[in-house]
Amino acid sequence: MKTSIKLAAFIFTAILFVTANISMAQKAGGPWTIPANYKAKKSTIKAGDASINTVGKETYNKHCKSCHGSKGLGDGPKAASLKTSTGDFSAAKFQAQTDGELYYMSFVGRDEMPNFEKKILDEADRWAVIGYIRTMKK
Ligand code: HEC
Repeated sequence: MKTSIKLAAFIFTAILFVTANISMAQKAGGPWTIPANYKAKKSTIKAGDASINTVGKETYNKHCKSCHGSKGLGDGPKAASLKTSTGDFSAAKFQAQTDGELYYMSFVGRDEMPNFEKKILDEADRWAVIGYIRTMKK
């Protein structure tokens, strides 16, 4: 008898926990603190470089699209299960940030935004991804 009460209590708590999580709205991440050495970083590839729509696009689709969506709108299949909003890469406010700021957020990350320093090793490939994100501007 006691075990079934415990079991019922457990199931009840589990249901409460799940519903609370589902109803919890995604919160916007607060402002990022970007170290000065990253802020000043400059792209190693030229604007309009051919690698942007090849390597940049492929790397983005492989590593970023699942959360950020194909156009950076934050509508990738994994986005709904995140607690934090992934932002909107097409927004003017987002695009107004420096290359170095985008670089830090993209490859160092924080919390639910994964670190990609060990997954995307080549510096020029990283800048091609940033270049590709730049094409998502509205
Ligand atoms: C597992 C899901 C996930 C993947 C995969 C992912 N991101 Fe993110 N990304 C997030 C989340 C969540 C945030 C918001 C984090 C925060 O504000 O704390 C974010 C934030 C960002 C931001 C800052 C957005 C803003 O509006 O300030 C950039 C830039 C970014 N990601 C780039 C990338 C790039 C580039 C890749 C691929 C190399 C990538 N992300 C892969 C989840 C992801």
